[in-house]
Amino acid sequence: MSKDSFDLTGRVAFITGGASGLGLATAEAFCARGASVAIGSRDEEKIEAATSDLRERAGDRVEGVPIDVTDDAKVALAIDATVQRFGRIDVLVNSAGYTVRKPAFEMTGDDFNRMYDTHLTGSFRCAKCAARVMADGDGGSIINVASVSSVVDVIEVAPYAAAKSAVMALTRSLANEWARHRVRVNALIAGFVPTDLNRHLIVGTDRGRRVLEHTPMARFGEAREVASAAVFLASEASSFVTGHGLAVDGGFSSCGVGDSVAPWVGEAP
Ligand SMILES: NC(=O)c1ccc[n+]([C@@H]2O[C@H](COP(=O)([O-])OP(=O)(O)OC[C@H]3O[C@@H](n4cnc5c(N)ncnc54)[C@H](OP(=O)(O)O)[C@@H]3O)[C@@H](O)[C@H]2O)c1
Repeated sequence: MSKDSFDLTGRVAFITGGASGLGLATAEAFCARGASVAIGSRDEEKIEAATSDLRERAGDRVEGVPIDVTDDAKVALAIDATVQRFGRIDVLVNSAGYTVRKPAFEMTGDDFNRMYDTHLTGSFRCAKCAARVMADGDGGSIINVASVSSVVDVIEVAPYAAAKSAVMALTRSLANEWARHRVRVNALIAGFVPTDLNRHLIVGTDRGRRVLEHTPMARFGEAREVASAAVFLASEASSFVTGHGLAVDGGFSSCGVGDSVAPWVGEAP
């Protein structure tokens, strides 16, 4: 019988932003598929909470690793610590991030620089360190968590949208350069999923209502739905996929005119 191509048994994944939201859901999904997972976060308490919960299901296949993706040295230490602990890295998920909503007239150069340092340069720092390990091993898969704001504007998040758009360009560049090292690089174009990052912006707000009106499936996503797509990109099931942005957004980024869905927003599907 052929092996399940979505199986991650024996794979080692490092997940930045792994102690909450999409990153934590991805850690859970990877563990459920048999992977060992290093959960990266700046916050020791969040690491402790996330790892102790996951260890109940996955035992010693879970490790917490402190990381600040804006710091070259801390990124290098985190990748080294993961290799020391598990012996290899096969998958990197760049899920660290944050957002700021303000009109562009109120944004500063610092707002842009900090946003880029986390989302773009941070993803690059982690990708470069992890890809060296992958290239010396059996190759691997890098998954950058991009956003619908990588492909359409979602108003008043200019630095976030610019950084997430650049993450798509980074995804293509690294995919192109690192295919020869057997490292695939893809992005998830995540739609609106209420998490610590954006719950205050979209749940019960006018902005959230407008998002739903422009989402053909007329609901927010769930973190586990983004995590399922990450399993695909991490696994053999996607062995010929690289440089791709996979939308997991209920149709949001494909939706031009949203009027036809508006009447049933808020109703049970
Ligand atoms: N939720 C959505 O609707 C949505 C949609 C599209 C894209 N995304 C993207 O998905 C990713 C995950 O977001 P989320 O929704 O899961 O939000 P979240 O729960 O707030 O997770 C983001 C994590 O990033 C970590 N982080 C932030 N800055 C960091 C840094 N400098 N170094 C290391 N870790 C850092 C934070 O962890 P610590 O504070 O523990 O370090 C936080 O737990 C982000 O890149 C976000 O832009 C989210």
